Amino acid sequence: MPSSSSPKCLVRGSINIDEFFALPHIVRPGETISSTSLTKRAGGKGANQAYAVAKAGGNVDLDGCIGQDGEWVRELLKSGGVGDGRLETLKNELTGRAIIQSASDGENSIVLHAGANHHLSSSSSSPNLQNYTHILLQNEIPLSSTLSYLEESGKKGLISIFNPSPMLSSEELRQFPWKDLSWLIVNEGELNDLLNAFNSNSSENEKQKNIDDLDLEELIKIASKGILELHENSFFSKKINIICTLGSKGILYFNPINGNKDIGHLKAGKLLNKLKDTTGAGDCFAGYFVAGLMRNEPLEKVLKTCLTACAICVENEGAMGSVPNIEATLARLE
Ligand code: ADP
Ligand code: NA
Repeated sequence: MPSSSSPKCLVRGSINIDEFFALPHIVRPGETISSTSLTKRAGGKGANQAYAVAKAGGNVDLDGCIGQDGEWVRELLKSGGVGDGRLETLKNELTGRAIIQSASDGENSIVLHAGANHHLSSSSSSPNLQNYTHILLQNEIPLSSTLSYLEESGKKGLISIFNPSPMLSSEELRQFPWKDLSWLIVNEGELNDLLNAFNSNSSENEKQKNIDDLDLEELIKIASKGILELHENSFFSKKINIICTLGSKGILYFNPINGNKDIGHLKAGKLLNKLKDTTGAGDCFAGYFVAGLMRNEPLEKVLKTCLTACAICVENEGAMGSVPNIEATLARLE
């Protein structure tokens, strides 16, 4: 990676069309009910995170597949500033679908169809990462493809960021090429899953407590211990920086590369409006984080910008639609 090249991020990941059916209750087996509304939104963690990188001012391309039914998603991504040169439209596949039943009592139930997200293009096993300085990955496409991209980014010396959502199996986590990873972004539940996968013979895996039931100090203590355990684990790599998001309780960050084994905590951004919808907050965080890394700002500045963006995100409805642009975020930060 020539140091003169200007920062550019590739997001390799999923693109979905999310269809929300508003219902009095979740449909029971054999039952037919009418929805009171149908809302259609672009989604998928790859698309959400790429969109957030662009909103945060980063130069970003999204690498993934849609069907011909997803051209409007391509247009939406482009209008948000995401480069679509690596976005392939397949003739014989549908765009990934999430069918979401959203009941009036707050219950949710989701059917996922991977569709075009499961397509492996011929270049998928030897991706071209020339011209990119950063790569951002999740786990909503075939793992083999994610691994090819990560391994290639390791060879090329890119800065890589991985958000293991949905979580990988224990076996996959133990085989994962951790040595190629620069930054891991997990939430508290995912941190626990990782530890459990690496400590398969351990009986001490405490049943995970709901983070809302823990006071802040207790939560920081437990999660910090988890981060250090992960760092020391032989399956893992000591070079990896770790961010653990804690919902309304903010984040923990661990940046051992400078020989510093301290774990920092930052509070969530202050809400100026009512909490509305936390969907996509994690994706907003990941996208803003990578854009901040690309600007080469001090870590705390990057993180505070992320937390402010997330506060605006949860005050607004939707995933992509609630990600603020960098101007709005900086205006609130000051
Ligand atoms: P994920 O959706 O991946 O589990 P989190 O729920 O941890 O991610 O949310 C990511 C970030 O969004 C948090 O670190 C926080 O900054 C912000 N956030 C999430 N929920 C809230 C909330 N209820 N109040 C304020 N900020 C929140
Ligand atoms: Na939101």
